[in-house]
This record gives sequence, structure tokens and C-alpha cells, in this order.
Amino acid sequence: MTDPAAARRALRDAFGTFMTGVTVVTTTDGAGRPLGFTANSFASVSLDPPLLLVQIAQNSVNYVNFTTAAHFAVNILAEGQKDISTTFARPVADRFAGIDWQIGPAGSPILPDVAAWFDCTLFKMVEAGDHAILIGQVEAFHATSAPGLGYYRGTYFTPVATQATVPTGPDIIVSAILEQGGQVFLVDDGFGGLTLPTARVGRDGTAAALTALIARTGLIAAPGPLYSVYEDVARGQQHIAFRCPCTGGQPVKGAFVDLVPDSFAEVTDQALRVMLERLAEESRMGNYGIYFGNQDRGQIALVAGETK
Ligand SMILES: Cc1cc2nc3c(=O)[nH]c(=O)nc-3n(C[C@H](O)[C@H](O)[C@H](O)COP(=O)(O)O)c2cc1C
Repeated sequence: MTDPAAARRALRDAFGTFMTGVTVVTTTDGAGRPLGFTANSFASVSLDPPLLLVQIAQNSVNYVNFTTAAHFAVNILAEGQKDISTTFARPVADRFAGIDWQIGPAGSPILPDVAAWFDCTLFKMVEAGDHAILIGQVEAFHATSAPGLGYYRGTYFTPVATQATVPTGPDIIVSAILEQGGQVFLVDDGFGGLTLPTARVGRDGTAAALTALIARTGLIAAPGPLYSVYEDVARGQQHIAFRCPCTGGQPVKGAFVDLVPDSFAEVTDQALRVMLERLAEESRMGNYGIYFGNQDRGQIALVAGETK
């Protein structure tokens, strides 16, 4: 049997290696007072019906209120809202003081200037160990293209390429998803297959690596929003992919292929192929998520999604 204390440590450490978004989950108490806490356990669950989940610790002072409330909202914090995250994670007397919040259509507090919000009715509450899982049915939402606040190894960061302060190191690999007219740009992977233009992130950081990578392709494109973050545990690599709308140029090598799942049969890296297939599907639906996880498993967060 696994030593429970060791398993606890391993779980905590493993979770710490994922990048996540940051949310403030809100509801109201019996007297209509706003309640909220910072949470990064947000995940999308189902598209039909639209369901999402967050987890609340049993030792939270808000546990009873949230697990018995008929509704809650998930506010996805924007990159400049680190202070709000801190306030809602600390024992502050009135976390909503000085915040111009409003009640959303389903009855929970919506915070101003967030990257996105989802106002939910409680679909199901599941007690699970020292947490409860709150599954919400999305009744109303608003998603902007504002970049969300990121969280990685206990530190906040902004995942937008142009301002990236993602911790860098020799094991971080950045990929450019160069899109133009319903097509995506692929290059030879050197092993008889196809891949995205990819570069190792050096001392100058993610944004510099991405800009140089785009320039090397011969295409003209702007570094755009974060699309996928996953760990390749076997190779000890962290992969970060950014969507980069392409506006012209002449490719040095490589070619555009249609953004449909069938185009990716020759992409040999399985995690990359799955990511591109998801991109094709989401591009068809006009609704993008961000993938966080490892090469096999992860979650897709509908963070700061584009609305069409
Ligand atoms: C980035 C971040 C993410 C967090 N995610 C969660 C979470 O998913 N679930 C949770 O119960 N607490 C989470 N916490 C901790 C709560 O925000 C914090 O413990 C709680 O608000 C403490 O106050 P309370 O007992 O008044 O709720 C997180 C804290 C931070 C800083």
C-alpha cells in the first residue's frame, strides 16, 4: 500500500507542475451577502448541457454556504487581477469591499473587468475526500479576449505571448500555431512526419523565442493567445503553444494544410496531433479553450474564449 503522506505530497507536487488559470468563485448567503474564494480547480465538464466544476476545501469557512447554495459563479480573473486573487484567498473581513460587483442573471456576484464569467445553477455537489466538487450548469456567461491570469508553481503569470513572464528554462518548448484562411502551417519534423514550427525557449524568454521562431518561417504573423500547455513527462519537456494569426509572407519551408482533423495523420507526435485535431474542431465551432495537462491527459479550460 502507498504511504498516504507520501501520496499526499506527490499529488500536491504533481499538481504544482501544471499551469492553471485563476478564478474567484462566488455565491450569496441566506441574507444575500456576497461570498467568494479564489480557486484554480476550475475545469469544463460537459458541453451539452454546458457544465463546469470547481472544488472547495472542506475546511473553508464558506464550505456550507457553497455546498448548499442553489447557484454559484466562476469569475476568470484577467491578467491584471492578481490583487483580487490574493484578497479572495486570505481571511479578509469583507473580500468584496471596494469592488464594484453585480449580481449575475443566475443570482451570483460577478466581478468587474474579469476575462470571462460563468453564472451557474448548482447541477450537482459531490463530496470527495477533504473537498467537495461543485458542478455548475452555465445559465449565462460573458467571455472576452482579455488575457487571463495564470498560476504556476505558486507564482502568478500572464500567459500572453507578447508579455510572457512564464518561467523559462532549457526544457520549455514553444510552438507557433500559424493560422491563415482556415489553414494551419506545418513543417517537416525531420523524421518523415509533420509538426508545428517549434523552438526551445532560452534565457530571453518565451516571447523572444516565439518571435524569432515566427521570423524563421518566413511568414508574417503576430504572437497571439496561449492555446495549450502540457508536460511531456517522458522527455522532461514543457510545451507551450500560441495561436498566431498569419497575415502574409513566403514560407522558407513547410506548407499550409486545411484546418480539419484529416490533415494531421502525418503529425507523428501524438500529443501534438490530438491538440491540432482539437484546434480543427474548435475552429469549426468558433469556441476555443486552453489545454492544461500532460502529454496524455489534461483539462480544457474555456478561459477568455473568443465569442463569435
Ligand atoms: C491560486 C489559488 C488557487 C486556489 N484554489 C482553490 C481551490 O480550487 N479550492 C479551494 O477550496 N481553495 C483554493 N484556494 C484557497 C482558497 O482561496 C483559500 O484557502 C480560501 O479562500 C481561504 O479562505 P476561506 O476559508 O475563507 O474560504 C486557492 C488559493 C489560491 C491562491
